[in-house]
Formats: sequence, structure tokens, C-alpha cells
Amino acid sequence: MTTALVSNPSTDVPAKEHGFSALGPADWSEYIANRPAYPPSFFQRIYDYHGHKSGVTWSVAHDVGAGCGIISSVLANRFDNVIVSDPNDGYGTIARDLLVEKALLPESKFSFLQEAAEESSVESGTVDMITACECIHWTTPDIAIREFGRQLRADGTLAITYYTRPLIEANEGASRAWKAIWGTLSKKNRGVLVDKAYNIANTALESLEFPEEGWETVKRIYINSQGTLDGFILDDRTSESKVKESEERIWVEDEDWCDMCDIEWFRAYYATWAPHIPKYEMRDSWEELERALEGKKVKVRTPNVMVLATRRA
Ligand SMILES: C[S@@+](CC[C@H](N)C(=O)[O-])C[C@H]1O[C@@H](n2cnc3c(N)ncnc32)[C@H](O)[C@@H]1O
Repeated sequence: MTTALVSNPSTDVPAKEHGFSALGPADWSEYIANRPAYPPSFFQRIYDYHGHKSGVTWSVAHDVGAGCGIISSVLANRFDNVIVSDPNDGYGTIARDLLVEKALLPESKFSFLQEAAEESSVESGTVDMITACECIHWTTPDIAIREFGRQLRADGTLAITYYTRPLIEANEGASRAWKAIWGTLSKKNRGVLVDKAYNIANTALESLEFPEEGWETVKRIYINSQGTLDGFILDDRTSESKVKESEERIWVEDEDWCDMCDIEWFRAYYATWAPHIPKYEMRDSWEELERALEGKKVKVRTPNVMVLATRRA
């Protein structure tokens, strides 16, 4: 199938540094084990949005910035074909292994592309749904969003999502220590790529623009954000909001993005985010967190934003 949808990629594209792996080699087993699992309600929100439009089809999905294929694996149950793309070396192989060898999904459903969001070989107007989860901050969003619009069929759905680090509930000491740990990480996390990522992520994706000539029915769903963007703000790097009056903003509290966690989990979760800062640099904060938890689990809620948009016919 998808070979028909994909034209030959050019071979003389210069090597480019891409976010995520640039910060250190990704350990996908740690990532899968310790990042929040995307719950069924996450996919349901996207599918309801798509399904409510008349005449849409469920033929081809494109999972952009797919990493090891976490999102692709679920899309494969709903769509006939899934394009799994990621620009970083080796991720396609890891995704294929997870989807085909481990999850035993039929290989014929997938095509794997080593490509960035900004420039794809996928043919114009051939895709029903594009997902870009936890990756748009590594892209140049204006170019990526234009490129998504090119690939989508008329009335096709774009879902761009981003979750930030979880917040601790009902334990002030633990919250303070956790905040200090993330403050230290933010201070260390500097450079052109990372600054751009923070500029986008700190706005809860409000800096993403959907030009009205190309997009309609834009919905921004803020999960576990308690009516404010504060939970997304890690430091003062930011950019201008591009939210339009015509766009709908929806605030939802969702227990699916909450969990009970102990100190081991905090350590393992934190290790999935780069850069890895030597323990001694944050020893006081980690000790404070451990003391405040008193060997118990604490409730965490993860703020998550989902931006859904329809390619104008
Ligand atoms: C945190 S992982 C997200 C993986 C998966 N989508 C998920 O939701 O768990 C971020 C991914 O973005 C990819 N990435 C980095 N720069 C990109 C770009 N310009 N276009 C598309 N993906 C990019 C990385 O290679 C990495 O796989």
C-alpha cells in the first residue's frame, strides 16, 4: 500500500541535527516503562473529533516523530495503513521491531520513513490523520504545520499533543523539591535546539499557529491544567500566543493522566528526560523529595495539551 503514497526521498539532503537524540541516545525501554502511557481516552478524543466529520475515511494515518512507535501501535488498530516517520537514525528499525516483531502487527500495514516533520515524501492529499505527539517542540512548527496540511486530505485531522512533567498533589515539601529538580534541569538545558523546544513547550503549544486559509475547527484541549497554563511553564523561555478567537479552548480534568508514585518512580521518570545531570548536582533536592515522600506514594497529575485541527477543504 503505502509505497504508492510515498515518493522517492531525495538522497542529497544534508545531515541535520534533530532534537531528542541530539541530547543523548534514547533508551526506549526506559521511555516506554516510565513515561505516562497514552490512555484510551487520549485516542478517543482524537477519534471522536475525526469521526464527527461527515464523509471522513480511516484509511491512512501518519505518525510523525513516531520514535519507537507507541502511537503508531494504537493507530494500527483503527487505520488500514500507518506511516511511521522519524528523522533520527535507527528509530525506524526500533519502531518496526516493536510493532511487527513484538506486537505482531502485520508488517503490510506500515511504512517506515526516516524523515523530519518539515519535509516528507508522503504524497499530497493522501492522509486521513496526522499525529505529532510529544515532538512538535523539536520541529519548526510553521513549516511542519504547512507540510501536514499538504499531506492531509480535505477534512483530514491533525492531532498535535504534548504532555509536560507531572505535578505532585497534596504534598508541599515534595512539590517544592520536584520543582527545584526541574528548575536545575531547565538551567542546564540550553542551546539553539533546546531553547526553541522550551519556547514552544512552555506555552502549552499556544505558540502554534493554524492559518485560517488552511485550517478550521481548531480545538485546544488542556488536560489536568486546572484552568491555567502554569503547569506547562518550566522557565521564562516563551513565545507569543497564536491562539485565534475562532479556536475553541477546552479544559478537562482527567484521572487517566494521574497516578500514585513513589521515589523510585520519580527517579526512573526523571531519567527519561535529558540532559542527565550528575546526581551530586541535585543531591539536596532529591534527598528533600525522598524525605517529603516518607516512603509513601504520592498522587501526580500530568498536564497534557491536545491540539486538533481540520484541513480545510
Ligand atoms: C519524545 S519522542 C516522542 C515519541 C512518540 N511520538 C511519543 O509520543 O512518545 C520525540 C521524537 O521527536 C523526534 N523528532 C525530533 N526532531 C524532529 C523533527 N524535526 N520532525 C519530526 N520528529 C522529530 C525524535 O526523533 C523523537 O523520536
